[in-house]
Amino acid sequence: MEGGEGVGKSTNLDFLRRYLNDSGIEIVTTREPGGTALGEEIRGLLLNVRGEPVSADAELLLMFAARAQHIFEVIEPALASGKWVLSDRFTDATYAYQCGGRGIDPASVAQLEQLVQGDLRPDYTLLLDAPVEIGMARARKRGELDRFEQEALAFFERVRQSYLQQAREHGDRYRVIDASQPLAAVEKAMETVAGELLSRWRRTTGRQ
Ligand code: TMP
Repeated sequence: MEGGEGVGKSTNLDFLRRYLNDSGIEIVTTREPGGTALGEEIRGLLLNVRGEPVSADAELLLMFAARAQHIFEVIEPALASGKWVLSDRFTDATYAYQCGGRGIDPASVAQLEQLVQGDLRPDYTLLLDAPVEIGMARARKRGELDRFEQEALAFFERVRQSYLQQAREHGDRYRVIDASQPLAAVEKAMETVAGELLSRWRRTTGRQ
């Protein structure tokens, strides 16, 4: 599950987890950066507001350090035992924030992606999309802004455009949901997508 700030990822991830659970799917929900004890410590380093400027490369490498542990400790074991993994953000967030937002060359991210993930890629990506002003107004209401949330609107506009570009490039695995609609309408769209996800899985695995 991907999206900019304040698009309602947590609420919708929870909705999707319940929907899939009720359909008999064993599912592990997790998040990035984080998902493990080490990863959550790295998340603190990345999100806490700091006195000194943080180098874009240091930020990128910390994201992938957390991801490597996440894959090793959570994702691979879950997949190996036949469970589904539903993650609040994954590597597309790195393309959106570190490349789109910070200006890092996508070729560098692709190298780290290969090193850390090998062939592991998401089967399906839901992008919750909303105009940045709407998302940031929601994020501000949640309280203190973290190091990313303190960026200027132009940064989030680049993040949003990067996500939309990725959705166009990987149309086979991306579904874009308009997160500026009322919650009931977003949940309806999520249900449609989850139904599609289930039937695709049943078709390819022959399972019921
Ligand atoms: P979140 O709780 O809003 O998902 O906070 C995580 C923050 O980390 C969010 O601002 C996006 C940022 N982030 C990146 O910049 N790159 C990444 O690869 C990931 C996973 C998150």
